[in-house]
Amino acid sequence: MNISVYFTPLGMTPGDVAHRPVLVVDILRATTTIVAAFASGARDVLPVGAADEAIRIAQSLKHDDVLLVGERRGERISGFALGNSPREMTPELVGGKTLVMTTTNGTPAVTAAEAGSPVIIGAATNFQAAADRAREAFAEAEELVILCAGRERRFALEDAYAAGRFAQAVIPTGQRRSVQLNDAAIAALEIAKRYGDRWKRAVQASAAAKELSRIGFEEDVVAATEVDCCDLVPLYSERRVTVSDHR
Ligand code: MLT
Repeated sequence: MNISVYFTPLGMTPGDVAHRPVLVVDILRATTTIVAAFASGARDVLPVGAADEAIRIAQSLKHDDVLLVGERRGERISGFALGNSPREMTPELVGGKTLVMTTTNGTPAVTAAEAGSPVIIGAATNFQAAADRAREAFAEAEELVILCAGRERRFALEDAYAAGRFAQAVIPTGQRRSVQLNDAAIAALEIAKRYGDRWKRAVQASAAAKELSRIGFEEDVVAATEVDCCDLVPLYSERRVTVSDHR
């Protein structure tokens, strides 16, 4: 049994995730926003890396129920319907819609996990549901990759803490010694131990939280720590995120 954590998609190859269960986290904010979109009834989310690619895909879909969603430097991309704020994901705006989404770190992390199976979208807001799904996949495959989006190709505290919390939740009680952990997984577990179950404290301590607060998105940081407010598990497959489990 093994658990590997990657603090960013850098250095992770498709071979590292191929046919393995992968859990992707970008607590501030992309995976939190994806969870919020499904909680408000979005039909699906198409994560893409570049803004021009998002525009091309949205145009090729040729129907009215498509929304362009995304940010650069935290702000909504000019010409896009919505930014990357979980609070924008209201039933009125996203219910029944296909969201073509591009963010600086989060959507590239999701697409980097393409070869995984299943690819689970995790956040604090769906922590229990995503951890249950990851535990099930781990029990079956005896391995799990936890991929953090990180921040601008660097380590991000809020994602590392989340990775540690998910790793804790997945490792069967009393069996930590029988699970092989890479160094990043060991570090993530230490960070999770340091903050315990205090999501707010861990997330608010991060540089991303400080930057979001600085540019006026402090409430998104709060929204990102509403633990278990959403009982759903978005899964990424064939370039599309959908919700499989409404439990
Ligand atoms: C990202 O995907 O880069 C982040 O979610 C950035 C943000 O906070 O909007």
